Amino acid sequence: MKNAEQVTILAIESSCDDTAAAIIRNGKILANIVANQSVHEKFGGVVPELASRAHQQNIVPVVQAALEQAGVDKNELSAVAFTIGPGLMGSLLVGASFAKTFALGLGIPLIAVNHMQAHILAHFIKDGPDQAVPHFPFLCLTVSGGHTQIVLVKDHLQMEVVATTLDDAAGEAFDKAGKIMGMTYPAGPQIDQLAKNGDPFRFEFALPKVADNAMSFSGIKTSFLYFLKQQVKEDPNFVQQNLEDLCASVQHIIVKHLLIKLKKAITLYKVPEVAISGGVSANSYLREKLTLLGVEMDKTVFIPKFEYCTDNAAMIAITAHFKFLNGDFLDQSIRPQARLSF
Ligand code: KG4
Ligand code: ZN
Repeated sequence: MKNAEQVTILAIESSCDDTAAAIIRNGKILANIVANQSVHEKFGGVVPELASRAHQQNIVPVVQAALEQAGVDKNELSAVAFTIGPGLMGSLLVGASFAKTFALGLGIPLIAVNHMQAHILAHFIKDGPDQAVPHFPFLCLTVSGGHTQIVLVKDHLQMEVVATTLDDAAGEAFDKAGKIMGMTYPAGPQIDQLAKNGDPFRFEFALPKVADNAMSFSGIKTSFLYFLKQQVKEDPNFVQQNLEDLCASVQHIIVKHLLIKLKKAITLYKVPEVAISGGVSANSYLREKLTLLGVEMDKTVFIPKFEYCTDNAAMIAITAHFKFLNGDFLDQSIRPQARLSF
């Protein structure tokens, strides 16, 4: 039975290669289920066609598991939320169609959530009563496999992109560098792990030269590729013998580029608080260097819990919660958008 006092939302995330569902009640996450797709591993990146097929397979069991874990009956739901974009169209369509059908069947409202906004609002998921959340306005470096932006967050639902990548995303740079070294997808976490025993200054790569409000990662990937091609010509075992130093060095240049840009934005926008979000915010070197930057610039730093860094539906759920309170609902004519800004 529905309780008028309670706001209970089912949230679905299917923008890329993770099928996820979460249940939130009055702002508290009751369940958070993610099904990863291992089918992309050997391809070095996400294969869109395979991703949508896997979503189709996973979505019903994932939603069922979320409802069970939360101990919530579908008739208790107040709304259904889904990721409207940005993302892969075939993947988005699976989540959107499921959410629309579910909402229509139950006669409850539909809420569309911007994936990038959700990565940022993951900071507002309260897992404990003493957990601190950022105060507005703050800057958030959002770094994922598809996007890299610095966002000025003015309110839960009011955000402005103040710097963005001109080409590849930071996560893509990690994944492509890993692919060049023969790693499976996603290479980011593997590079992070191997880099822990490597020397970040052993191999030097040039910093991209772009405007203050821009970032670029394709040049890093290309110089890494040409450097390795040359070295492997001279010594076929070069990669294997220098793997940890290579990982540490490429990770160093990616993180250095990100933090130089973040520092410039902090100085320009004079915010007292800074956050990171998205899959790459799980990177231990980025976390460590951001913490040091916070001390250096006397800023409070917010780093998300690991489970809320990479794609998940809890972040869609918390965003949907704020949208519900705002009365921000949509009708059945809504369609997903592969490209979507704030
Ligand atoms: O946010 P996310 O799960 O999906 C997108 O919205 O794209 O981000 C996935 C990206 C991948 O490129 C993955 O390699 C990267 O995040 N990633 C990492 C780490 N964990 C995930 N990159 C570096 N270090 C990590 N520990
Ligand atoms: Zn994401």
